[in-house]
Amino acid sequence: MPLIAWDKKFVTNNLDVDRQHQELFVMVNTLHDAITARHGKDVLVPTLDKLATYVVKHFKTEEVLMQAKRYPKYAEHKTKHDELTRQAVEIINGYKSGQLVLTLTLSRFLGDWLSTHILGDDLAMIAWIKEHP
Ligand SMILES: [Fe+2]
Repeated sequence: MPLIAWDKKFVTNNLDVDRQHQELFVMVNTLHDAITARHGKDVLVPTLDKLATYVVKHFKTEEVLMQAKRYPKYAEHKTKHDELTRQAVEIINGYKSGQLVLTLTLSRFLGDWLSTHILGDDLAMIAWIKEHP
């Protein structure tokens, strides 16, 4: 069973953002399944790297959009992106160097972070942009 399921409550109606969010759901579920299946570094490292690369690309999409529209909460929103990116890099490096073991706590954390961030920050951001064309 997937960890997180896409639902209409996550739809922002910005096509790029929604498509990327759906892809992130797929990737977090893939990571969750790979950890559940007790895969080793051969599977988990590429899965994590792919997810991290996509997260950075996605955050960039939102940040370019926010800057172009002069979104007033840009700095606050970007700080949340930066903090998640920093945590992800720390976890991935810790795992690669053998200092950290990956457990389902990681995929659950990412699933929760993503859901909370979309429902709070991203929906508010896209709503503001639609009100200020
Ligand atoms: Fe965001």
